Amino acid sequence: MSDKPSRYASWTAGKLPLPELLEMKRRGDKIVMVTAYDAPSGRLADAAGVDLILIGDSSGMVVHGRESTVAVSMDEIVFMTQWVTRGAKRPLVIADMPFGSYEASDEQAVQHAIRLVKEGGADAVKLERGGTSVSRAHAIVDAGIPVMGHVGLTPQTATVLGGFKAQGRTADRAQRLIVEAQALEAAGCFAIVLEAVPDAVARAVTRALTVPTIGIGAGAGTDGQVLVWHDMLGYYEGHAPRFVKRYADLSAVIIDALGHFAEDVRSGAFPEPQHAYAMPEDELAAFEAALPEKPEVG
Ligand code: KIV
Repeated sequence: MSDKPSRYASWTAGKLPLPELLEMKRRGDKIVMVTAYDAPSGRLADAAGVDLILIGDSSGMVVHGRESTVAVSMDEIVFMTQWVTRGAKRPLVIADMPFGSYEASDEQAVQHAIRLVKEGGADAVKLERGGTSVSRAHAIVDAGIPVMGHVGLTPQTATVLGGFKAQGRTADRAQRLIVEAQALEAAGCFAIVLEAVPDAVARAVTRALTVPTIGIGAGAGTDGQVLVWHDMLGYYEGHAPRFVKRYADLSAVIIDALGHFAEDVRSGAFPEPQHAYAMPEDELAAFEAALPEKPEVG
């Protein structure tokens, strides 16, 4: 038998089947999603038993230090998706479509979604907003690629929304959010992210949809929750939104470890003999015998 990975490897590795998300919503089992950007984070998220991994364009801010997600490129998302899928086997891996990769036309959206699946290895893609994104989602689903929608605060178009702030806070805007989410569901989206919307609005959207909602800053009434890796693990020095809960303080752990390393290097406590390589004694003797005499100084 060939030792090449089978094209059905993800099934045999126990990849979470997409329809299971609908079942989870029906059963009331909460769906757990987290972002990841490289192989170790993909592997750790898998080991922790999360259901969905998002290669979010939040990478632009939390990994690459930009002020917003707008400049994130297709190449960046493709590379990160390749890295994450090497580490994560069971969770469904969803790749964000970066700003500029789907707005121009359905054809553009389909081409880029195909790239994320074919080159990146993503199981699904995510795009932001209602409006023209409904038609893009429809076209991508028609091309055979599962799509996750994202409404509420949509960071790629935060400028139009007046900044990074909660959405759907008037009766009219809340109604519009429900309509947008329903349009995305009708276009074939398998789930919808609700970002930074009032609890009551998220509950109403969740009730109005058959497909699951995944909340971030949307209260406890959604079908699942997502947080950004660096925010939840305390591995990011920038501003974290109020909806973030910190489950670890990795920055402190890392600064402490690096500080100890620096101390050890400066004091000569590191490396110790067990961190170094030896050579056979006869080879060492021959090597030393062949070394030139130390020149006289002075
Ligand atoms: O880019 C991202 O990480 C996201 C999540 C906040 C849902 O879109």
